Amino acid sequence: MAPDSPGSAAAPEGGRPSRRRLLLGGGAAAVGGAAALVGADAVLRGGTGGPGPAPPEERLNGQATVPFHGRHQAGIETPPQAHGRFVAVDLGDDADAEAVRRLLRLLSDDAAKLTQGDAALADSEPELATVPARLTVTFGFGRGLVQRVAPERVPTWLGPLPEFSVDRLRAEWSGGDLLLQICADDPVTVAHAARMLTKDVRAFGTVRWVQDGFRRAHGSEAGGTTMRNLMGQVDGTVNVAPGSEDFERIVWDRRDNPEWLRGGTGLVIRRIAMDLDKWDRLDRPGREEAVGRRLSDGAPLTGENEHDEPDFDAVTPLGFPRIAEYAHIRRARSADPSERVFRRAYNYERPATEPGEPDAGLLFVSYQADVDRQFVPIQRRLDELDLLNEWISPIGSAVFAVPPGCGANGFVGETLFA
Ligand code: HEM
Repeated sequence: MAPDSPGSAAAPEGGRPSRRRLLLGGGAAAVGGAAALVGADAVLRGGTGGPGPAPPEERLNGQATVPFHGRHQAGIETPPQAHGRFVAVDLGDDADAEAVRRLLRLLSDDAAKLTQGDAALADSEPELATVPARLTVTFGFGRGLVQRVAPERVPTWLGPLPEFSVDRLRAEWSGGDLLLQICADDPVTVAHAARMLTKDVRAFGTVRWVQDGFRRAHGSEAGGTTMRNLMGQVDGTVNVAPGSEDFERIVWDRRDNPEWLRGGTGLVIRRIAMDLDKWDRLDRPGREEAVGRRLSDGAPLTGENEHDEPDFDAVTPLGFPRIAEYAHIRRARSADPSERVFRRAYNYERPATEPGEPDAGLLFVSYQADVDRQFVPIQRRLDELDLLNEWISPIGSAVFAVPPGCGANGFVGETLFA
C-alpha cells in the first residue's frame, strides 16, 4: 500500500482518527462496550481519545473489524455476517507450485489489509475499503490446488462427494481449485473485496463460479437470533457452539488429516434449490411435519421453546411418532456424536425472469474436520429418506480444505509448502 493511501497508518481521513492514532491512542476505550454489539471476535475501529463511552457515530458496525491473523482462519467461528460471497477459481494450466505460493501471498496480504479497513495493494477504489463491516476472507483449497503443490499430502476426503440420488448437480455451480469466502455485514464491502481479490487471481487462473448469499440485514434482529431460510424455517438451531471444546473436535484438528491442515478444516458448499411454488401449496401442519419443528419459533414438535431437546420417542394419541420417521431433524441426527458438522448457511436468490422459474434456495455451507466421516453419512441418510427432498434439490457441490490461519508475516496456505 502506498504510504499516503487512505486507511494507511499515516493518513487521517476526513474527521476519522488515523489508524496509527487508533493503535496508539484511545481505540481501546471504544472496544469494551461496543464489541458486544458486533460479535465475539470483532473489534471496533474508532476511539474517543479518552475514557467513557464512544459517541454513537463511532460505534458504527461498518467500522468493526475481525482479526485476519491467528491460529484459525476467520469467517468460520465468526458470528455470521449478513452477506457472503463464495468465489471458486480454476488455476491456469501453467500455475505451478511456485505460482500458487505467489498467488496465496498476494491474496493473504490484500485480505489482511481489506479486513482491517485498509486499501488493498493496488486498490483502484481505496475509499471503498474504509468500511470493513466485519469483513472476513477465508481461503479453501480444492483437490486440484493441493495436487499441484504437494500431491502426496491431499486429504483423503478432498474431492467431489459421492453421488446422491437427490443430486441434480450442474458444472456451473460445482468444483473449483481455490475458494474465496468473503463475508461482511455490508454488500458494498463484499463487492469491493471480491473485486480486489479476483484481480489478484487474474494472472493465475479464472473464476469458475460466484455464489452470493444473504441473511437478515445487520441490526434487523437481535444478535444471536437463529437465521430463517427462504422456506420460512428457523435454520441453524442445533449446531456446534463456536469457541467450545466440541467445536475444536468437530471442526478443527482431526488427527488423521495431513500435518499441514492442523488448525484447519474441511468445507462443503452445496447450492440447494428450493421449489418455493410447490412449498407454497403445502399447509402449515405439513410444513412443520416435514422438518419436525414449528414454523413460528423453531421449537421441536414435542417441545415449547426453540432450544428444547426433541423427544424422538414421543407418540401421538394414535401411536404414530410425533416427530415423523421422515422428518428432516430425525434423519439429520446421528447416534454417533462424532458424525456432526458446523453449519453456516446463507440464503440465495436470483429473481425470476419467467413466472414459475425462481432460482432461490440455500447455500448450505458446513465445516467439519473430515468430510467423509462427518458430512457424508448425514447426507446419505437424508438421501435415503427426508420429506424435505420433495421441495429441495442440490444443484451445486464443492469440497475444499481450509488451511489454518497465519501470522502477520506469513500467508494462508504456507504450511502446505513447508
Ligand atoms: C435446503 C436444504 C435444507 C434445509 C431447508 C434445511 C433445513 C433445516 C431445518 C429447518 C432444521 C431444523 C433447525 C436446526 O436445527 O437447524 C435443520 C436441521 C439440521 N439439518 Fe438441515 N436443511 C437443509 C439441508 C441440510 C443438509 C444438506 C444437511 C447435511 C447434510 C443438513 C443437516 C442438518 C442437521 C445436522 C440438522 C440438525 C439436526 C438435529 O437436530 O440434530 N441439512 N435443517
